Amino acid sequence: MLISPSMLSADFARLKEELDRVKQGGADWLHIDVMDGHFVPNISFGMPVIKCIRPVCDLFFDVHIMISQPQKYITDLKKSGADLVTFHVEAEGDPAETIRMIHAEGMKAGISVKPGTPVEVLAPYLDEVELVLVMTVEPGFGGQSFMEDMMPKLAWLRQRCRPGTVLQVDGGINRKTIAAAAAAGANCFVAGSAVFGREDYGAEITALRELAKAAV
Ligand code: DX5
Ligand code: ZN
Repeated sequence: MLISPSMLSADFARLKEELDRVKQGGADWLHIDVMDGHFVPNISFGMPVIKCIRPVCDLFFDVHIMISQPQKYITDLKKSGADLVTFHVEAEGDPAETIRMIHAEGMKAGISVKPGTPVEVLAPYLDEVELVLVMTVEPGFGGQSFMEDMMPKLAWLRQRCRPGTVLQVDGGINRKTIAAAAAAGANCFVAGSAVFGREDYGAEITALRELAKAAV
């Protein structure tokens, strides 16, 4: 059960301190949301920010790219310090080629579906990726409500993915919702507003992990 706090909810004026707090709080990964204002109706931050935090944070960089043209940025993502890149199947370019490009740069590859996309479109790529991400909110913003009706997607993926594939959920994960996602087969949980801005990051991360473990 991996907990990947989403930096999108961090206080960017105190970013290093925020990253230290999630690391010391026991985060497994750091989820980094890159948005281009085109694939999603919001702009977050890009490679210059990832490059700045790489030397001061040794967490695994789980980079979720919500951008229309993923293939254009794979090399720059590698240079900036990404460990894993998850792109959207709805984005431009042949997904099989995008996966090959990510692997060619020596990174792990993830593929994601938005809530409105049927999970079955991922079938041709499941043997090629290390991670599959099921969005449980419309991508673009933190702090939205969890869509429990996405749970059948996780159950479907659990049946079909290779053993060892990480099944990640992103959006609205908190103490109330994490059990449903874990019970449906997820083993990696992105949490933005449920961790950042809270009193004790370690207590939140630990509570989430324990609730996920208890649900399976
Ligand atoms: C939404 C992002 C999420 C977001 C999650 O587009 O992909 O990673 O930060 O935030 P919460 O956990 O607050 O829903
Ligand atoms: Zn995300």
